[in-house]
Amino acid sequence: MKVSIIAIETLCGRITPAGFGSKRDRVFLETARENTDASLIGAGSLREGDPEFRIRDGSIPPKRLRAIITNSGDLPEDRSIFKKGPSPIIFCPETVFTRLEERFSKKAHVVALSKTIDGMLDLKEAFSFLERHGAGSLLIEGGGMLNYYALKQGVVHELLITLSPKLIGSVREKCMVYGEGPLGSPFMDSELKSFKVLLETGEIFLKYRIKQV
Ligand SMILES: NC(=O)c1ccc[n+]([C@@H]2O[C@H](COP(=O)([O-])OP(=O)(O)OC[C@H]3O[C@@H](n4cnc5c(N)ncnc54)[C@H](OP(=O)(O)O)[C@@H]3O)[C@@H](O)[C@H]2O)c1
Repeated sequence: MKVSIIAIETLCGRITPAGFGSKRDRVFLETARENTDASLIGAGSLREGDPEFRIRDGSIPPKRLRAIITNSGDLPEDRSIFKKGPSPIIFCPETVFTRLEERFSKKAHVVALSKTIDGMLDLKEAFSFLERHGAGSLLIEGGGMLNYYALKQGVVHELLITLSPKLIGSVREKCMVYGEGPLGSPFMDSELKSFKVLLETGEIFLKYRIKQV
């Protein structure tokens, strides 16, 4: 399965607070959804936002898979993803499976996964599940922690990054990729495949291939 991470970041590498992208960046994201069969987000992004994974015409495609990943099982039940569109998939560990199945019985499909040695869920297992349900491509829509573990587990093929002409500088804001320790030795290498400069908004749309995948 082809796996892409998509994100918009400031010139200082931050992805929060939400909502700093232009309308053109929104179209870029919605088009990327149209070009993929599934989206995955970390539980943090659901706790802090209310993503629905709409495409350019404003619809939620009925056959496109939408998935959330959590270790803690701490998911807000009142989010739109549980009310609109096809039922999402929740990936979780065995320890919270029964609790989540009870809470989300009619609102989501709960799937238990095993953990890797870093204590996080095995994303290869998650992606096999998505493949078995028809997904040939996946868009990881953040946040920074999920991005980190996906890169660390070696399952990402490309990065679709919008560089926004903004700076925030606060250590309280989330980075595009963050976690324990470096991803490589110390760097993980990527190769620039394409770029598009949008002078009207000051944004640059970048596509990188991750080298070791
Ligand atoms: N600018 C952008 O492009 C962009 C894109 C997406 C999100 N965001 C922003 O990013 C912020 C959230 O980022 P974040 O880094 O705090 O959170 P995140 O990556 O969305 O979520 C982190 C949480 O996801 C779960 N998780 C991630 N990888 C996992 C794995 N391999 N196994 C098990 N659980 C896993 C864990 O959930 P539990 O804690 O439940 O165990 C973890 O604490 C939000 O404010 C959002 O608006 C920005």
